[in-house]
Amino acid sequence: MSDAKILLGGNEYELPTITGSEGEVGIEIRSLRKVSGAVTLDEGYGNTGSCKSAITFIDGEQGILRYRGYPIEEVAEQCTFVEVCYLLIYGMLPSADELASFSESLTRHTLLHEDMKKFFEGYSPSAHPMAILSSMVASLSTYYPESTDANLDLNILRLLAKAKTIAAFSYKKSIGQPFIYPRNDLTYTQNFLHMMFANPAEPYEVPEVFDHALRLLLILHADHEQNCSTSTVRMVGSSEADLFASISAGINALSGPLHGGANQKVMEMLRRIRADGSNYKKYVEMAKDKDSDFRLMGFGHRVYKNFDPRARILKAAANRVLEELHLDDSLLDIARALEEVALQDEYFVERKLYPNVDFYSGFLYRAMGIPTDMFTVMFALGRLPGWIAHWKEMREDPKARIHRPRQIYIGEAARSIPPRDKR
Ligand code: ACO
Repeated sequence: MSDAKILLGGNEYELPTITGSEGEVGIEIRSLRKVSGAVTLDEGYGNTGSCKSAITFIDGEQGILRYRGYPIEEVAEQCTFVEVCYLLIYGMLPSADELASFSESLTRHTLLHEDMKKFFEGYSPSAHPMAILSSMVASLSTYYPESTDANLDLNILRLLAKAKTIAAFSYKKSIGQPFIYPRNDLTYTQNFLHMMFANPAEPYEVPEVFDHALRLLLILHADHEQNCSTSTVRMVGSSEADLFASISAGINALSGPLHGGANQKVMEMLRRIRADGSNYKKYVEMAKDKDSDFRLMGFGHRVYKNFDPRARILKAAANRVLEELHLDDSLLDIARALEEVALQDEYFVERKLYPNVDFYSGFLYRAMGIPTDMFTVMFALGRLPGWIAHWKEMREDPKARIHRPRQIYIGEAARSIPPRDKR
C-alpha cells in the first residue's frame, strides 16, 4: 500500500502505511506530531492500533477469530486448554513431548506457598473473588520475584498453575469450607473442579460433561487481541513492570461490567426479568430508551459487527449440556426469547448488536455449580494465557517502548492564582 497523505493547515504530509498478514492496513502516525505539531484523537481507541501482534486475528465484520492462525472453531473442537496455553504463549502447538513436559510442570506448580494461605484470612467473607484474585496474583511477585529472564518461563508456569488454586480457595473461603489441595493425578481442568467441589466429608468425582464444558469455556476466553484488559496488561507491562503486577492489573480491568464483569451482570439481569414476570419485551424497550441507563448485558461488541463466534459455540454447548443433564433452566428460556426479540428489533439490527461471549457462558457455569460471583474469575482463568502471551510478546520486542498516549487539553488556559486572604 502506498503512503497516506494528510492535508493540514494547507500543508501536505506523507505518512507510511503498514499492511498486516491478513491485509489490514494501518497508517503509521508516529512522526505526525514532529512534522506537523498535530496529534490524532481517538477516544476509546476505536480505530487505533496500539501494537503489532502475531497472536490473535479477529475480523469483526465476518465473525472470524483465530489463535496463531487456527480458527477458533477448530481449536475449540480439537485442543485441550493446556495445548492452547502453549500455542498462545509459545506460538506453536506443542509436540507430544513438549505437551507432556508442560502439563507435568503445570501440575507440579499448582500448590500455593503455605504462607499465602494466611492472606485469605484477611479478606472479608463477602469479598468479591475478582478482588481476591487480583491481589493474590500481585502478591505472587513477593514469593517469585523476577530476577533473570531464566525464571520468566518458570513464573509463567507458576501463574498459570496457581491462579486456579487461588480461584478455588477464594470460593472455599466464601462458603466457609476448608481449602482443598490439588491432586497430581488430575488434569488442569479436573484439578480446578476438584478444588472447587470436593470437601473433607465428600470426595468429588469430576463429571466428564463438566470437564468438557470447562475446557471449552477456558479455550473460548483464551485470547481476544487488544481488548480492555489485554491492553491494560500491555500498558502496565510496557513500563517493565513484572508479569504478576501486569496480569493483576489486567484482572482488575476485566472485572468491569462493560468487559468481563458482564457475564455476572447477564445472570443478574435475567434473574431480575424473571422476578418481574419474565416480561423480557419490557427490558428490550428499556435497553432502547435513551433516558434509561439500562443496557442488555451480554449484547454488543466493539469489534464484532456480525456475530461473536464464541457466543455461537457457547449457545450450542449450553443447549447440549442442559439437555444431557436433563436440566430445565427458566433463565435460559428468557435468554433465548430476549435474543430472538432483540435480533429482529430495528434498534439492535441497525447498531449491529448481537449476543457476545458473556451472554451464554453463565449457563454452563451454573450447570457446573459455579456461583454467579465467580463467573468473571472463570473468564480470567481462561484469559490468562492470552494476557501472558501479549506480555511476553511485548517483553521480547526489542523495539517496544513505554506506552504513553497524548491528549488534547481542554482545561483552563494559563492563569495566575488571584490574591487570597492569608491562611
Ligand atoms: N444494549 C442497548 N444498547 C446498546 C448496547 C446494549 N447492550 N450496546 C451498545 N448499545 C448501543 C449504544 O447505546 C449506542 O447507541 P447510539 O449509537 O444510539 O448512541 C450504540 O449501541 C453503540 O454502542 P457503544 O456503547 O458506542 O459501543 P462500544 O463499542 O463503545 O461498546 C460494549 C461496546 C461496551 C460491549 C457495549 O455494547 C455494551 O455496553 N454492552 C453491554 C455490556 C457487555 O455485554 N459487555 C461485554 C462485552 S464482551 C467482553 O468484553 C468480553
